[in-house]
Amino acid sequence: MSTADLSTRARELSWYHTIDLGEGVVTPGFFDTRATVSRVPLPASLAGKRCLDVGTWDGFWAFELERRGAASVTAVDIEDPDRWDWPPQSRLGAANADRLRYLAEFKSGGQSFALAREALGSAVERIDCSVYDLHPDRVGTFDFVFLGSLLLHLRDPVGALAAVRSVCSGEAVIADTVEAIPSLLRPRTPTARLAGVGEPWWWQPNAAALRRMIESAGFEVLERSGLYFLPVGAGHPPAPLLRSLRNAARSAEGREKLIIRLKGIPHVAFRGRPVAR
Ligand SMILES: C[S@@+](CC[C@H](N)C(=O)[O-])C[C@H]1O[C@@H](n2cnc3c(N)ncnc32)[C@H](O)[C@@H]1O
Repeated sequence: MSTADLSTRARELSWYHTIDLGEGVVTPGFFDTRATVSRVPLPASLAGKRCLDVGTWDGFWAFELERRGAASVTAVDIEDPDRWDWPPQSRLGAANADRLRYLAEFKSGGQSFALAREALGSAVERIDCSVYDLHPDRVGTFDFVFLGSLLLHLRDPVGALAAVRSVCSGEAVIADTVEAIPSLLRPRTPTARLAGVGEPWWWQPNAAALRRMIESAGFEVLERSGLYFLPVGAGHPPAPLLRSLRNAARSAEGREKLIIRLKGIPHVAFRGRPVAR
């Protein structure tokens, strides 16, 4: 594929991830996960390992696992956003028209993954499978599993983590959204805010609650990152600062949104392994 072809094909698609496709073509992602790679406790080498990336979207993390020498990488995602586990109420109302447009745009998720895979000369295999349906009989087991920024969108994050545990024979890294202020103010007390209405997410845990979800699903935590922030990418629409400031004065949720507006989405990553049973 020529540089001009690659650039044209990349421009025709919507991108969640900012991915350097080579030849000077960088995708205008909704988020720029490149900035967070050094904060996530991924093993430096995955040589010889069978790896799984859960909720891959354009495949940024799957390609990163491959770059670290994985023997094979399987990536799972759900092609049809109508099958996502978003709160039913987040799909209702005029206020969510933007979100629905955003969803419709991102229905091209599988195509952007395919283009990135081709451009990078990758061998990652992508399959349509919900995290809830991960089972050794269906996908086998994996030496290493990565799950990023997915739990917040799930009604049953612990059930999803238990399914991940069932296919993890080695280690897993779970890097997910947390609320920043409760993470800093209550470092040892698990707390979570339930959205479920008006937002496309369910639980917003603090770091202690994310850890507790992981432990209660049957993992032993080996390592924890510090709090880090996932910055938006070139494809993200600008959020009006004045509105963010006004909302911050009104509620704890508004203050979290202001942090997101200024710094990016707060995350914490845990490396763990299944507890022997
Ligand atoms: C917020 S994006 C995170 C993308 C990527 N994992 C990352 O960390 O940058 C959530 C991804 O999970 C996928 N997803 C949503 N519900 C899912 C489910 N039940 N099972 C598997 N993937 C799901 C979405 O299609 C999307 O690709």
